[in-house]
Amino acid sequence: MIEREITVPFSIFRYEELEPNIQKLVEKAKEQTKKSYSPYSKFCVGAAVLLDNGEIFTGSNQENVAYPSGLCAERVAMLYANSQFPENKPVAIAIAAKNDDGFVEKPIMPCGACRQVLLETEMRFDSKISVYLFGTEAVYSLKSIISLLPLAFTSF
Ligand code: THU
Repeated sequence: MIEREITVPFSIFRYEELEPNIQKLVEKAKEQTKKSYSPYSKFCVGAAVLLDNGEIFTGSNQENVAYPSGLCAERVAMLYANSQFPENKPVAIAIAAKNDDGFVEKPIMPCGACRQVLLETEMRFDSKISVYLFGTEAVYSLKSIISLLPLAFTSF
């Protein structure tokens, strides 16, 4: 038997420690939470994707009475960016979430389906995408989507 272990590297920043362009991306994600359509969960999520040409695409979670038909903010933003600029690499994504008490203190993590979609984008462009997860206490940062989905299903 062979045992293997996978470690997930990530950094924890204070908001003020982020580079100005990343602060801007985080602000865009926070701003997007206002456009969330989430009458069922009342949980508002915003995402902002930075492309290698400097364009920023944003999205928010869009729910539906038939629950699985809604979509998370991350997929709305990333698929929107990919559909508008299929030739441009996404280089970073920022995610912010708020409930009735305001922005979450500890960052939320993308769901499994979003991780799979984000990973496919990373692999499609063969270029790592940085992730910034906003919380009022701390911003978690990962350098690649693969850190969110080790041992992923990637091809058949
Ligand atoms: N949601 C997102 O938009 N992104 C995440 O990373 C986690 C969850 C949405 C889905 C649903 O509209 C609401 O948050 C509650 O789960």
